[in-house]
Amino acid sequence: RCVQRFLATVATAVGDLPPATATSLNLSHNLLPHLPPGSFSRLPRLLTLDLTHNLLATLAPGAFGGLGALATLNLSHNRLVNLPEGSFLGLGNLRGLLLDHNPLATISPAAFLPLANLTWLTLRGGRLPALGPVAVAAGHLPRLRLLDLCGNRLSALGPGPPLPPSLLALLLCNNSLEGLAGASPGLLPPALRLLDLSYNNISRPSAFAPLRLGNLSRLLVAGNPLDPLGLLEATDLRPRSLDVSGLGLEVARLGQYCRSLGVAPLRRLQLRRNGLRHLPNGSLAACPPATTLDLTGNRLRRVGCLGGLLGVGGGRGELREVVMEHNLLRWPPLCPGWPPLPGVRNLSLRFNRIGGLGPGAFAETPRLRLLRLDLNSLARLDPRGLRGLRWLLELRLDNNLLTDLPPGAFSPLRRLKTLNLRNNRLSVLFPGVLGGLPRLQTLDLGGNNLRHLGGKALGGLGGLRRLYLDRNRLLEVNAETFQPLGVSLEVLDLGGNALRYRSQRLGQRPPFQPLGRLRLLKLQGQRPFGLHIVPQRLFQGLTSLRSLSLAQNGLLAIAADAFDDLGQLEFLTLADSGGGGGDLPAGVFKNLSRLRSLDLENMGLRSLGPQIFGNLSRLERLLLARNQLRGLDKGVATGGLPALRYLDLRKCPLSCACDNAWLPTCPPAYLHSFDTRVCFLDLGLYLFSATSPLVALALALPLLYHRGYWRLRYHLYLLRAWANGRWRPERRRFLYDTFVSYNSADEGWVLGELVPQLEEGGSLRLCLHHRDFRPGRAIVDNIVDAIYNSRKTVCVVSRGYLRSEWCSLEIQLATYRLFEELRDVLVLVFLEPLPEAELSLFHRARRVLLRRTHLRWPQQPQERPLFWAKLIHTLRGGGG
Ligand SMILES: *[C@@H]1O[C@H](CO)[C@@H](O)[C@H](O)[C@H]1NC(C)=O
Ligand SMILES: *[C@@H]1O[C@H](CO)[C@@H](O)[C@H](O)[C@H]1NC(C)=O
Ligand SMILES: *[C@@H]1O[C@H](CO)[C@@H](O)[C@H](O)[C@H]1NC(C)=O
Ligand SMILES: *[C@@H]1O[C@H](CO)[C@@H](O)[C@H](O)[C@H]1NC(C)=O
Repeated sequence: RCVQRFLATVATAVGDLPPATATSLNLSHNLLPHLPPGSFSRLPRLLTLDLTHNLLATLAPGAFGGLGALATLNLSHNRLVNLPEGSFLGLGNLRGLLLDHNPLATISPAAFLPLANLTWLTLRGGRLPALGPVAVAAGHLPRLRLLDLCGNRLSALGPGPPLPPSLLALLLCNNSLEGLAGASPGLLPPALRLLDLSYNNISRPSAFAPLRLGNLSRLLVAGNPLDPLGLLEATDLRPRSLDVSGLGLEVARLGQYCRSLGVAPLRRLQLRRNGLRHLPNGSLAACPPATTLDLTGNRLRRVGCLGGLLGVGGGRGELREVVMEHNLLRWPPLCPGWPPLPGVRNLSLRFNRIGGLGPGAFAETPRLRLLRLDLNSLARLDPRGLRGLRWLLELRLDNNLLTDLPPGAFSPLRRLKTLNLRNNRLSVLFPGVLGGLPRLQTLDLGGNNLRHLGGKALGGLGGLRRLYLDRNRLLEVNAETFQPLGVSLEVLDLGGNALRYRSQRLGQRPPFQPLGRLRLLKLQGQRPFGLHIVPQRLFQGLTSLRSLSLAQNGLLAIAADAFDDLGQLEFLTLADSGGGGGDLPAGVFKNLSRLRSLDLENMGLRSLGPQIFGNLSRLERLLLARNQLRGLDKGVATGGLPALRYLDLRKCPLSCACDNAWLPTCPPAYLHSFDTRVCFLDLGLYLFSATSPLVALALALPLLYHRGYWRLRYHLYLLRAWANGRWRPERRRFLYDTFVSYNSADEGWVLGELVPQLEEGGSLRLCLHHRDFRPGRAIVDNIVDAIYNSRKTVCVVSRGYLRSEWCSLEIQLATYRLFEELRDVLVLVFLEPLPEAELSLFHRARRVLLRRTHLRWPQQPQERPLFWAKLIHTLRGGGG
């Protein structure tokens, strides 16, 4: 990984790599202008090569010579204008080639000739004017399955040769196609299954007539001024292959559309984003029976009931799943009197405006397994609202406005396994309110206002495995509370609460003593200033614990025997916990003979010796970066830590004295440059980087297109927030100085300009979503955490940013916090001049934008130093 290292030649990056071993090389975000022939010939085993975000304008013939094994090559976000013959010589094994976001206008007919195994080719966001020349070059690719040309300047489909017969998917979205000039029956290969023509400007259905569409299984034409029914009439397309989402199909024509689908059962009846406002009973009666009904992204305010929609026809029994996310519903669909739909297992009403549940709100769907009510405005639960849901396994109520839970509300849910109440306003759990949930395994109460958990609050949860209580206001925890969970609890998250100890002697029974099965305990980041003291016996009883986090806790003292019971511990982090208290007590880790990873980064440590690392015979990773260490005893690495494989000493003022001569990093000149010159592998970050685009994509899709929902919530809170803020001025520690919210299209500027200026020039700690988000968590949670853990939030505003709903969610959450804490946390940086008229298209954002501190990125380079100075000043807390 040589990402963002200001490299201008390939040789500086690969020159010192052990030859013939590397299989993956990441050179993204550097300054490479050119690749000479044979640039990578030292690395013949390379499988993946990432050259994105460089300044590549030309590729020498044979630039990739010697990479006979290479399978993926990413050249996106460069400055390639054309692809001459010979550019890809020697890449006979390449499967995937990405050339997105290059100003690519021409491709030599022979450029792709060597790529006999290429299966996917993406050329998004270029300047290609027509499909013909691409078809000429790609015609030689016998294995090509996917060709992606979205976001170019294509205005015609022909003239040109047919596309390769192996092609399965052709993506032409976001171009300038109007009449489909040059379309011919032979253009699309018979094997083609997916054709994406969305967001063009095709208005006449007859334009499709020359194409053979009969073999397609999916045609996407959203964002064209097209009549879906006219399209079906004019072509040989099978009606079920047409995705009518986003085509403005009116209620009055639903019947006609449904009849065209025939009568055989359908897997998914999908009517997304059609602007439907009202669906009267019987609207879908003519549709074939479907397993899933998807009405996401419409403007529905009321839906009578599901049974009513479907009428009394035979299709009712087939329905298994109903999705009505992103509408304006205020109540769940309900109509007494219709017979229930016992087949329905999943119901999602997330991202609506549901404010309350009437008694028996789900009587129509008594056999639900999964019910999603997250991201609504539920302020209270009717005690009888969930009546009858005996089969429910998972209930999502997170991101609502619940202030308390009525006793008995959950008692019908005998089989419930997962209950998510994260990010509500719960301040108290009455005894037994969660009783009657004997099978509950996961309970998420993070992000609420709990201050105290009474002895019986968690009673009746004898099967609970995972309990999340992070980001509440808990002042203390005690053994009595956890007693009922003793036999089952494995994961307990108490991060971001207000726990604090004042002396090393624990005055009470050790709080975690009943939790003999606990494997993971998180206590990081107690607010406002940290835990301060880890008393004796605090962890007594945790004999199965594998992982413990005490990071960000301003520790002043740790009792020498605090960790004595943790004989099974494998991962321990005390990072960022420097309270200035100096050093660790001797023998503090003496019993941790199974410890594999110890993170002591940024703890203010001045010395460490064998008396600290006595028995850590299995320790593999030791992180000591950013401490005050001047030396490290040789015994630490040789005798004391026989299993050590990874040692991080970056940013320690190690002196080059004889004591340290054993360290391979002397002399100091080399130490100094360690950070920037040497490529190192940070496995966690690497894995994260590799998976996060997928995770983010999968999670972000449903977030797109939400409407003014959050604003409503702010207004509700405005009053309360104002009142709260008066008597709770908080002075907290923050994990980050700044959360940077940006659109991926501006990533080049963020990583190339902003990050170096702020992190290096301004010594600010930045939170960037691609780097600091935790994989595997809901994106909303990640954003909420990022904003709460950062002193300020910077939004990098550009056209792309305003259009992306995800980014605007970030703005909205930041403003929300702004109201809550009455502090100016939001700073806007305008990356391009946006005229008032354009802003007003996004009026929701505009209101926020016009009021907040904002800075404009100057076009003139000489004005930029002033810009950076102002920005850094603002972010350090200097105000606007
Ligand atoms: C380049 O493409 C590869 C393969 O799809 C992908 O893993 C990688 O994340 C891409 N690089 C960037 C910066 O998106
Ligand atoms: C219901 O949702 C679950 C979890 O998302 C999913 O695995 C399952 O396939 C869905 N069931 C149906 C019938 O769609
Ligand atoms: C290592 O552990 C043993 C018992 O497990 C203990 O007697 C000894 O004092 C420990 N050594 C150090 C240096 O802490
Ligand atoms: C290379 O690093 C960038 C930036 O961290 C990342 O987005 C990309 O996914 C990485 N590429 C690969 C192939 O892992």
